Amino acid sequence: MTDNGTGTHGAVLQDGTPDEGGPLVELRGAGKSYGNVRALHGVDLRVHAGRVTCVLGDNGAGKSTLIKIISGLHQHTEGEFLVDGRPVRFSTPREALHQGIATVYQDLATVPLMPVWRNFFLGSEMTKGPWPVRRLDIHRMKRTADEELRNMGIVLDDLEQPIGTLSGGQRQSVAIARAVYFGARVLILDEPTAALGVKQSGVVLKYIAAARDRGLGVIFITHNPHHAYMVGDHFSVLRLGTLELSAERGEVGLEELTNHMAGGAELAALKHELAQVRGVDVEELPEEGDLTAPVAPSPEGDS
Ligand SMILES: Nc1ncnc2c1ncn2[C@@H]1O[C@H](COP(=O)(O)OP(=O)(O)O)[C@@H](O)[C@H]1O
Ligand SMILES: [Mg+2]
Repeated sequence: MTDNGTGTHGAVLQDGTPDEGGPLVELRGAGKSYGNVRALHGVDLRVHAGRVTCVLGDNGAGKSTLIKIISGLHQHTEGEFLVDGRPVRFSTPREALHQGIATVYQDLATVPLMPVWRNFFLGSEMTKGPWPVRRLDIHRMKRTADEELRNMGIVLDDLEQPIGTLSGGQRQSVAIARAVYFGARVLILDEPTAALGVKQSGVVLKYIAAARDRGLGVIFITHNPHHAYMVGDHFSVLRLGTLELSAERGEVGLEELTNHMAGGAELAALKHELAQVRGVDVEELPEEGDLTAPVAPSPEGDS
């Protein structure tokens, strides 16, 4: 395993011991075809406890297909998929969940008008009392949700507020804390920062790091190399369904990572072309890595 020398990342568990264990989840030459469409081919991936594995790639690269295999939504059609070193083939997400593999999807499965604490326990409510008179244990659910959110460093004013009133970053954070509480060992995040602004993305990245520090193996899907590089220990770049790059943090810099992302070379070419067009100031164009960052209108604009 590569020592990246940063001291803050790498194969070190929460209590400071190095992660000597094998991967929690591993793909070996895995692939998936939808009928005639080969969405993924020959992919190797290892997810270790206490580490963040970033999966990058442009739209259509196969990122969602990859995590659908691991989360039990789809089955691989080639290669191997192993959990704790044993080959598996999940038929439902519930089977993956039973092995501790939890997925936070971009379109979070929350009920916007229900309170935060209620959403935290959605589908796994705490109850009290013996069977025919069993009822929701509201007090315990509220207290536990509050404790768990605080444990992750998430401080909300009021857990009674509808979850729909939280910011996108906060909602993602609650979903992460929820997965941790319900015993996830592997946490899959499908583009959690894609719809968020810079500040909200920072909030989510912070909780990705918190989940890692609690010893989870995190799979972070993104097409933003900056976000990936802030928390990642390993980077796997997909392009047209195959691995274009698989590198430890110590083996690849942010600039190189950005160039590996689809769009890097194309943007450079586009910039060059635009330079020939009068009236386009190429110096003002975003850099390659800024492609996904929203460009805020400047208040002292020339209108
Ligand atoms: N259910 C499906 N049926 C047929 N083709 C699919 C299906 N899901 C994804 N694909 C195709 O597989 C490729 C990879 O898609 P996807 O995994 O969604 O990529 P990403 O998440 O990186 O954008 C694309 O060409 C897409 O059109
Ligand atoms: Mg996708």
